Amino acid sequence: MPIWEVYSCFYGLSLSRLFPYRQLLEELNSALDIKTGHCVLDAGCGPGLVIEKVIRENKSKGISITGVDFSRAMLRQARRRCRGEAAVKLHVADLNKELEFGDDTFDRVICSNTLYALQSPARTIAELRRVLKPGGLLVAANPKPEAGQRQIMNEHVAAIKKLTPLHRRVHGFVVTLSLTPVNLIVMAINRTIIDRGRAKGYHFLDEEGLRNALLEAGFCDIEIRSCYADQDWLVRAPK
Ligand SMILES: C[S@@+](CC[C@H](N)C(=O)[O-])C[C@H]1O[C@@H](n2cnc3c(N)ncnc32)[C@H](O)[C@@H]1O
Repeated sequence: MPIWEVYSCFYGLSLSRLFPYRQLLEELNSALDIKTGHCVLDAGCGPGLVIEKVIRENKSKGISITGVDFSRAMLRQARRRCRGEAAVKLHVADLNKELEFGDDTFDRVICSNTLYALQSPARTIAELRRVLKPGGLLVAANPKPEAGQRQIMNEHVAAIKKLTPLHRRVHGFVVTLSLTPVNLIVMAINRTIIDRGRAKGYHFLDEEGLRNALLEAGFCDIEIRSCYADQDWLVRAPK
């Protein structure tokens, strides 16, 4: 748990300015294909960046989102980020255990960059499937076995180069100068996570491993493609 408590202080500040992460948020939101009145679960919601994006992009649809995470520090950040959003509910929950939601509760379940850190991704995916309504959809992102930070940083720099000269200067100032210490800490934490992933202490899965975990959990129509500067898999699996 402590790694997430420390990460919570820096995660939102750094990643919300990282262009490949913003692109990941776009892709998660469009993969979700949210419809009016949908009830959504974000499993491992962290500091609420995904929830914030989904709420913002689906404003007029009257949706509700429940975010769960076992890190109270992450949830504090999520509460701050989603302050004033009556449609957002945030709870402490350990995804290694049974969830306190009934069967067939949610239209959409998101699990972004969290499965890898769990004891058994297949067991948790089965639990996420249980709380999905029939016809509902799981959207998940998870690092590939060879995931690293270099490609993400390269795509970030390429995106900055495409900005107008004024935006490039503003972005360069905000990110490069004011956030340098934060970004360095985030990169160090990510290094720890990546080293653990490569040493198989975390579930950085290849496509087959991820598909097998989804099949074991009861999903059949599984779409898997690359995302997040090709460092993650993006999964879409209907129940
Ligand atoms: C890398 S962050 C991802 C946050 C968010 N989903 C996103 O994509 O920005 C991983 C999150 O998983 C949470 N997490 C890890 N293990 C967990 C568990 N067993 N139960 C609940 N949350 C867990 C951490 O606290 C952290 O907030």
